[in-house]
Parts: sequence; C-alpha cells; structure tokens
Amino acid sequence: MSQQLRAKYSTVADWDAAYRKGTPPWDAGKPHAELSRVLDEYQLRPQTVLEVGCGTGADAILLARRRFEVTAIDCSPISVERARLRAEQHNALLHFVLADAFEFAPKTGQFDLVYDAGLYHSVREAQLERYLDMLWRVTRSGSHFLCLAGAPDETEDDGPPQVGEDEIRNELGRLFEFVHLRPTRLEGADPNRHHAAWSCLMRR
Ligand SMILES: C[S@@+](CC[C@H](N)C(=O)[O-])C[C@H]1O[C@@H](n2cnc3c(N)ncnc32)[C@H](O)[C@@H]1O
Repeated sequence: MSQQLRAKYSTVADWDAAYRKGTPPWDAGKPHAELSRVLDEYQLRPQTVLEVGCGTGADAILLARRRFEVTAIDCSPISVERARLRAEQHNALLHFVLADAFEFAPKTGQFDLVYDAGLYHSVREAQLERYLDMLWRVTRSGSHFLCLAGAPDETEDDGPPQVGEDEIRNELGRLFEFVHLRPTRLEGADPNRHHAAWSCLMRR
C-alpha cells in the first residue's frame, strides 16, 4: 500500500467514508478461508471470541455459526450497520459493538480467542503501542490470537499494507508465543485477486 493510500485511513471518518462509497477493497463479503482452516487444523473451540476491526461481519458470523460466543467491534457506523444486517440474514446471534477497539478494551472482559483480519497492519505504524495494550487487556494466559496481515509482495502497490516477517516477530512477539507464522492469501473485494498475507497464530 502506498503512503498515499495508507494516509487515506487514519480516522473513523476515513474508514466510514470507504464503506459509504460502496464495497471497500478489503471487503470480500465472505469469510476468509484461512480463519476456518486454522480453527479446523488446531481444533480450536474457544468459548468466547473477540474480533477487532470486524468490518461488515462475515468472519464474525462464521464464528458465531460455529457456536462460539462472539463479540465483534468496529469503529465505522456503516460497517457495523451492514454487519448487523448480514447477521440477521444469516440468523446468527452475536454481539456487534460500534466502538474504537482501543477504548473499548479496558471495559470488556478477556477472551479465549482474539481475531484480527486487517486491523493490525492498518494501525501498527501509527498506533502500535495502543494496539498491543488493547491485545493485552482482552487476553489472559492461554488465550489465542489469530492475526491475518498483508505480507511483502513486490508485484502489488495497491493491495493491503505489507508487514515484514521480522516486524511481526518483533512487534507481536512482545506479547505472545508464536504457534505459527506462515504465508497465506487474503481475499478482498475483487474475487480475482488474492493478496500475499501472513497467518499468525499466537498463544499467550
Ligand atoms: C482493513 S479493514 C478489515 C475489515 C474486516 N476485518 C475485513 O477483513 O473485511 C479494517 C477495519 O478496522 C476498522 N477499524 C480501524 N480502526 C479501528 C479501531 N480503532 N477500532 C475498531 N475498528 C477499527 C475499520 O473500520 C475497518 O472496518
């Protein structure tokens, strides 16, 4: 992602404007395949799950349909409205919260699994400390954290923000143990493009 594109999404109004215009480039409208892959591979059966930066809710709904107790937060009113509508259409029961995840974290409990597809890579350059503080507050010993984040790809200059392996190891490794850090592909709005990404599963 170019500096210019990155600067596009630094406030709630920026995120909300992206949704207001239609379908933003990251919104696949369906769950990320890597989420199910990881849940199945590790037989993860968390009782409580928090999704941070849930967008229009496809992943949160998948988690709720697996009968986990799901709280999903996003700061964009339009995305949360779309997520609630999508949940209603799928008869999925979960709790969507319209909030800044960094401010919500001290008020919420601790979760068995925290999931993030696209928030860490969007905020890490400007707000890493706040992000790590949020993660610490919403987890406890034994909690898992699954993060999907853009990976370096020289062929793309308009895809998701790209994070180097060393950066992930240095930044997220401050809090948790790595279970795996492996390459994956991240779906977006364009069904013909899958972006280079990291699948990072960690345990506190
Ligand atoms: C790249 S999008 C990913 C959305 C969704 N996870 C997906 O994969 O479609 C990042 C999301 O994080 C939300 N966001 C950004 N900053 C946030 C914050 N401080 N608290 C909560 N949500 C935030 C944005 O509104 C946006 O929906």
